[in-house]
Amino acid sequence: MPSSTRSQTPKQAEANQPAKLIDLQPATSLHVSEVLQGLQRSPKELPPKLFYDEVGSQLFNQICDLDEYYLTRTETGMMWECIDEITSLLSSKRLLIEYGSGSSTKTKILLDHLPRLTHYMPIDISQEHLLQSAHTIAANYPHLTVTPVYADYTTNLAIPFSAKMSAPKMPRLVYFPGSTIGNFHKDEALVFLKQVRDICGDGGGFLVGVDLVKDTDTLNAAYNDSQGVTAAFNLNLLTRLNRDVGADFQPTQFEHKAFYNEERSRIEMHLVSKKKQIVHLADQAITFEEGESIWTESSYKYTLQAFEKLITTAGFHPIKVWVDDQQLFSIHYLQT
Ligand code: AVJ
Repeated sequence: MPSSTRSQTPKQAEANQPAKLIDLQPATSLHVSEVLQGLQRSPKELPPKLFYDEVGSQLFNQICDLDEYYLTRTETGMMWECIDEITSLLSSKRLLIEYGSGSSTKTKILLDHLPRLTHYMPIDISQEHLLQSAHTIAANYPHLTVTPVYADYTTNLAIPFSAKMSAPKMPRLVYFPGSTIGNFHKDEALVFLKQVRDICGDGGGFLVGVDLVKDTDTLNAAYNDSQGVTAAFNLNLLTRLNRDVGADFQPTQFEHKAFYNEERSRIEMHLVSKKKQIVHLADQAITFEEGESIWTESSYKYTLQAFEKLITTAGFHPIKVWVDDQQLFSIHYLQT
């Protein structure tokens, strides 16, 4: 039988499947002690990675489609517009590692234009979304070995690379879109970027999307949308804590607050207590004064210069920066 016929037998025509999930047990699956510590601190504070349960991940996808949330459509538009330039710089890469892959829309643009990639490693803290997109990508890109990693990349990440992935002929490209780098405070960002530098290895590249400093009204609108999706995203954290660590928050007794802190170049999101109230969690009582808040997220905005300084300090060499016409968003390409 000619091989072309044989390759059509059902078994061989089976779709490409992702490799077994690498589970690095991210601490999202809720360490009560981490939550408790955050709530006993003053001011009260919880890390934004806790937003991304099933519902939170869906709400985030809705945020990405909002008129006010210019980030996603601007970055995606830039990817389309600059893809030839981007891919000409990236064409030698073989292994694509993506942090916070979520629904992977922008990744598909890269995958479609980088035919020499052989391996794709998405890393995400939302297991459902990770597995779903790993399956879709494996099915649509039969030549790719897809290895999903379920992990919290905000803590030190020792990725277990296979021997094949560590081969010298396997130059790496790390992709970190969405301006998620903005969730790190400046000192944390530096630690994180140094880790990325190590993961890139020699001859590696780093493509990262970074939201830019701009007028306060545009920024405030992006985090206070008229449909209240961002508010629901923020408040969902309380519902999640009730379910996952047995807290007894009344989400209706808190309100969403987001504002641009110009001095620190960051959006701050808070959940503000509407009244004096006591919340219980793991046998502890946590008191909220009226107007007291839980600080749930920072989203730092950078100037091109400030980001270049940070990335250079982390050991990268800036190669190219793309900015959209309205100077809302930037995409940086760096090499090790
Ligand atoms: C996913 C961290 C980039 O900071 O803009 C969106 C998350 N928070 N709306 C951002 C978010 C509120 C988002 N990042």
